[in-house]
Amino acid sequence: MEIKKVGVLGCGLMGSGIAQTAAMAGFETTVREVSEDLIQKGFAAIEKSLAKFAEKGTITAEQQKETRARLHGTTSFDDLAECDIIIEAIIENLEEKQNTYRHLDAICKEETIFASNTSSLSITQMMAATSPARQRRFIGLHFFNPVPIMKLVEVVRTILTDADVYEDAIAFAKKLGKVPVRASDKTGFIVNRLLVPYLLDSIRALEEGVGSIVDIDNAMKLGCGYPMGPLTLGDFVGLDTTYYIAEIMFNEFREKRFAPPPLLKRMVMAGLYGRKSGRGFYDYTNDPKNPTPMNLV
Ligand SMILES: NC(=O)c1ccc[n+]([C@@H]2O[C@H](COP(=O)([O-])OP(=O)(O)OC[C@H]3O[C@@H](n4cnc5c(N)ncnc54)[C@H](O)[C@@H]3O)[C@@H](O)[C@H]2O)c1
Repeated sequence: MEIKKVGVLGCGLMGSGIAQTAAMAGFETTVREVSEDLIQKGFAAIEKSLAKFAEKGTITAEQQKETRARLHGTTSFDDLAECDIIIEAIIENLEEKQNTYRHLDAICKEETIFASNTSSLSITQMMAATSPARQRRFIGLHFFNPVPIMKLVEVVRTILTDADVYEDAIAFAKKLGKVPVRASDKTGFIVNRLLVPYLLDSIRALEEGVGSIVDIDNAMKLGCGYPMGPLTLGDFVGLDTTYYIAEIMFNEFREKRFAPPPLLKRMVMAGLYGRKSGRGFYDYTNDPKNPTPMNLV
């Protein structure tokens, strides 16, 4: 099946990026939000990003205009009924997602592919809220922030995904200008499966006094050629998000490498969420950032 019409659920951080990417790639794209205000907010973020692309010469003024014309906002589910694929990027709440899928399953055409952008929930559990026929057309499409710039998409299949649907989704991801990787529905997919234990280990190394915050970051940056150290990366991802994902992964695999270290838990309890709250492993209230003073013993 050739995908022509794209639906996006949610116009927050990820949904707006996904909608923009689809429209830039030439797809007619309809985005559903819960209120008109949130559509306006999401579209303003898209306008800003498109303007940056135009400024840098990545797209022409004409392409910027055409992209905008392909984007439609709505608060009604009915406007998504004829879409060939619906990419869901609403809040990370299983019940909310299941309710949404149940509702859409009843109104969308038979062929519509359902794709979730979840980072940590089970695609299989969401899929289970839909009819047996739809379950064959249910996948994960896991994008990375900022979506218009990050090249990777993890294309996730469940034990029930049709081979044809999966190949259509891979082809669609390529049309979006992304590099798709194939992953199965096991919590964390590929990236978080490898990244989360690394981030947690760097926190354990700090806890055990192997090195200071700055030395651990510099060691991995300069010794391994990583663009940023693991503690800086944790602050960037959000320590609350890292803790939440680690808990879910630990529950799935029951392996110590996914267990959130006590220091991470305490930092989250203390409100040190990283960049977003102004303090994490580093204090961002002054420029340049400094390590946050903490009693580690
Ligand atoms: N933030 C990231 O870096 C990132 C990366 C990959 C995947 N994800 C996943 O993407 C999803 C969205 O994350 P986000 O960071 O964009 O969140 P966000 O809070 O920025 O946006 C979520 C939006 O969904 C809207 N919404 C809630 N219920 C809705 C519904 N029933 N219909 C339509 N819209 C609805 C909310 O109003 C909100 O604007 C989550 O599943 C998250 O796990 C996030």
